Amino acid sequence: MSDLVPVLTLPEIYSPFVRAREFLRWQELESRFEKMYHKKPAFIARAPGRVNMIGEHIDTTGYSVFPLAIERDVCMAALYIPGPGHLRVELANVTSRFSHTSFTCDLTRPESLELTTKSAHRWSNYFKVAFRGLLYEMPPEVVNSAHGVLHVLVDGTIPPDSSLSSSAAMTTASSLVVLTAFGMHKTIGRSRLAQRAISSERLIGVSTGGMDQTVSVFGEMGKAIFVSFVPELHAEPIQMPKWDEYLFLVSNTLVNSDKKANAPTQYNLRVVETRIASFLLSKELGVQLTFPFQFPSPLRAVADAYWAANPNAFEEMMNKFEDVRAAYNDAGKEVAQLQAMLNLVENILPRRGLTRGEVEQLAGLSSDAFHHQFLSQAPVHTTHFFLHHRAFHVYSEAQRVIRFRAICDATSSRLERGEACDVHSSYQRLGSLMNESHESLQRMYDCSCPELDCVVHIARQAGALGSRLTGAGWGGSAVHLVPRDNLDAVMKALRNTYYSMRVGYIKEDALSDALFVTNPAQGACIVMCS
Ligand code: GLA
Repeated sequence: MSDLVPVLTLPEIYSPFVRAREFLRWQELESRFEKMYHKKPAFIARAPGRVNMIGEHIDTTGYSVFPLAIERDVCMAALYIPGPGHLRVELANVTSRFSHTSFTCDLTRPESLELTTKSAHRWSNYFKVAFRGLLYEMPPEVVNSAHGVLHVLVDGTIPPDSSLSSSAAMTTASSLVVLTAFGMHKTIGRSRLAQRAISSERLIGVSTGGMDQTVSVFGEMGKAIFVSFVPELHAEPIQMPKWDEYLFLVSNTLVNSDKKANAPTQYNLRVVETRIASFLLSKELGVQLTFPFQFPSPLRAVADAYWAANPNAFEEMMNKFEDVRAAYNDAGKEVAQLQAMLNLVENILPRRGLTRGEVEQLAGLSSDAFHHQFLSQAPVHTTHFFLHHRAFHVYSEAQRVIRFRAICDATSSRLERGEACDVHSSYQRLGSLMNESHESLQRMYDCSCPELDCVVHIARQAGALGSRLTGAGWGGSAVHLVPRDNLDAVMKALRNTYYSMRVGYIKEDALSDALFVTNPAQGACIVMCS
């Protein structure tokens, strides 16, 4: 199968449930483009948002995650007209929240793509980083001949700041516009697009892991996507067993989760905490790590390097720790090695929060060296670093992803072989893993908030088998695993309690943006306009 981004038609992109609505939306987008730029668009680039079933805040460390693309997306109608002078990029958005903006650049001088801090034009940075990320991929003849004007009109349906990955969809769609406008969509495949979208988003200032961009590129209708990062980026579409009977319901708390604005005290700070934890673990375990590292945090690298350098260590830990042997018997070596890492975390990292002075002392680093090693890439603000809790979350969440996938695989293969299989009990176990994930995010990673805890609680009480925050947290959305028979009850409970009492009256169409069942959707694609 070709790895190129597919060129599709509308019915190939959306499920029958939303096709009519999307058809009208796309027609409107094309006609607004024409009114605005007095020309028809040449193509529309589309990239979806995502919901993550399990595996939160571990893609930054290289551990696998299990999301699915959703039908809500970012569509960009575009037309490139070659002409004289430097390249001018004209950007407009169908919502007034993002004002019309433009910038001129000379692709032979990357510094002409400097990011802007002016709030009204800040969203043009998505395009600037898309160009910057793709510059390495562009053949010199494209770089040298990119003159004229690129007209773009954007329309997104992913609620902003909802943790459903609107920013990765923007980054991915922007990169896809650049690829397609300059004809590179015929040579540059999806893996490189995903990798470039990941590095582009990091240029915006978030030490993102890569899950969002990868699933946005590789999403498949009706399938979840198992994303692994080691030894290299890989996206595997997985058909969940009896998915028509068990649904993933999203509820947006309507508490804004602005990953970029809050990065220094939230997302990036957590990444820095896991980097420091890796440093202390590697020091204590005698593992050599070279910074900077492939992933924002090397927690996985420490574990992998430790097992590789100490062939007898795992056997010794199986003999020493009962929980490691139990994990081995129950779920195999990978899960047991992670259990061993959890024991090492308990023994090596203090449980309490540590001041910067205390951390420097443990690390044996001067203040300058500490700054250089951990704080120079992105600013973070905190009085205390919680190293034990962050590392504990990462290793235990990595275990949950492996267990989750194993349950899905075992259930599907029993069903395929026509063997007796209690599908409901499989989903109950998946739900328990989701609940454990939420507990860990809440207590260990400290990225939940009262509103997320509230919707999670309501959904579980009303019949969800599992509920957890999804995405970065600190607001945004939760995902609930709900048997079809309980769907009405769970939706009703959320509507009548959280949405009506907490948020006050919320209009039906706004509610359908906040509370919806996800249909696993097609990933990034291009539609040529006639
Ligand atoms: C954000 C990031 C992802 C991932 C999630 C948390 O969505 O962009 O890379 O880290 O948070 O799992």
